[in-house]
Amino acid sequence: MAVNLLLGLQWGDEGKGKIVDVLTSNYDIIARFQGGPNAGHTLIFDGHKHVLHTIPSGIFHENAVNVVGNGVVIDPVIFKKELDNLAKFNLDFKTKLLISRKAHLILPTHRLLDAASEASKGKAKIGSTLKGIGPTYMDKTGRNGMRIGDLELTDWKERYEALAKKHIKMIDFFDVKLEYNLEELEAEFFQAVSELKNLTFIDSEEYMNNAIKNGKTVLAEGAQGSLLDVDFGTYPFVTSSTTTAAGACTGLGVAPNKIGEVFGIFKAYTTRVGSGPFPTELFDEDGETMSRVGHEFGATTGRPRRCGWLDLIALKYAVDINGVTQLMMMKGDVLSGFDTLKVCTSYNYKGQEVDHLPYNIEAHNVSPNYTEFKGWSEDLTSMTSADTLPKELIEYIAFIEDFVGVPVKIVSVGPDRKQTIMR
Ligand code: GDP
Ligand code: IMO
Ligand code: MG
Repeated sequence: MAVNLLLGLQWGDEGKGKIVDVLTSNYDIIARFQGGPNAGHTLIFDGHKHVLHTIPSGIFHENAVNVVGNGVVIDPVIFKKELDNLAKFNLDFKTKLLISRKAHLILPTHRLLDAASEASKGKAKIGSTLKGIGPTYMDKTGRNGMRIGDLELTDWKERYEALAKKHIKMIDFFDVKLEYNLEELEAEFFQAVSELKNLTFIDSEEYMNNAIKNGKTVLAEGAQGSLLDVDFGTYPFVTSSTTTAAGACTGLGVAPNKIGEVFGIFKAYTTRVGSGPFPTELFDEDGETMSRVGHEFGATTGRPRRCGWLDLIALKYAVDINGVTQLMMMKGDVLSGFDTLKVCTSYNYKGQEVDHLPYNIEAHNVSPNYTEFKGWSEDLTSMTSADTLPKELIEYIAFIEDFVGVPVKIVSVGPDRKQTIMR
């Protein structure tokens, strides 16, 4: 069977967790392939709200196996907290949650390095979630990292000590004041590692390929979004992993010819947390309304998300890079009540109108040109069928489909699992 992918097409927080949860009943395996606890994926069902950071969003379904792939970076401390939060569900983690031996470990000193790096940048900071993501991927590609499989070796603590010692020297290099108590951080880390070691570690690339050969259905769950991709995002204001479709191949050990459908998720407007360019960002009442109605606060850090109109130039770019075959539009309900809606359909770039995402998209290089739409006033949140959607919303969707050349197959009209309309 083919592996289907589910990816965010904007700057993250599109609603990936919700849709993975909705789709899990169709799959045997849900596999995360990149990122780490910088992600916050929200699931709401039966009146409960859960935020998952590293654990795949299929965890609540009885029959699905959840794989944390080699491309993911794992902080044992956060992982343990996630497990603790799930304790009341009595899930059988030993069989339902499998971790790749090749996934890299986030050490406490990676988090400190992240903080030191950000502090040293001052105003130019990335706006990192400070979970140690950048330093851990740097150690991975620099060939210095520690992996989950290392925890099975007798000398893993010595390896840990050597790497942590090196990090402390690097922190000094940054010449910033950083308050920390390493002893405390390490005690917490070692305790969490001992709990992590009770879980099942696997050679995940072998597991995945056997599963595919045996006809199992797999959904690969992306984290972050295409505009945060280390190559194709708004560099350097990006994360440190490949968030696009190619990342599923390297992050799971699955070959490109095994990829089937690519589900691309986007919000009906745009949000971004952290620093970096955002051509359609709003600083007015419309932006405030999106923020308030959409509860736009980060699921991991609680920071307010910046809000703006839908950017179809950026969306088309993401659709092309990922080879998206089906779109899912989230949070249409948040736009109810706007008299006029705008979508960006070209940019003014250095004095010329362009219809692609140029190299420099900072505000002084790029300004958006908008196409306007009449809004809808109906409350969408209790709608259950595509036939009942207001005609203005259907026109909005049709314009998007036509612009990017891919059909919108799911319209999400609220945060709950049930508030999902299939088309
Ligand atoms: P993820 O990181 O892509 O999984 O997304 P997040 O969980 O960080 O952010 C999405 C937020 O929007 C969460 O608070 C969800 O509960 C919420 N959400 C998801 N879909 C919808 C929707 O269709 N309408 C509304 N109003 N909220 C939604
Ligand atoms: P999910 O999976 C939104 C952003 C951070 C920062 C930049 C780099 O929930 O969509 P990092 O911690 O990776 O060094 O931060 O990327 N960022 C996210 N923004 N959703 C996420 O994940 C994000 N993960 C990282 O805010 O701007
Ligand atoms: Mg999120």
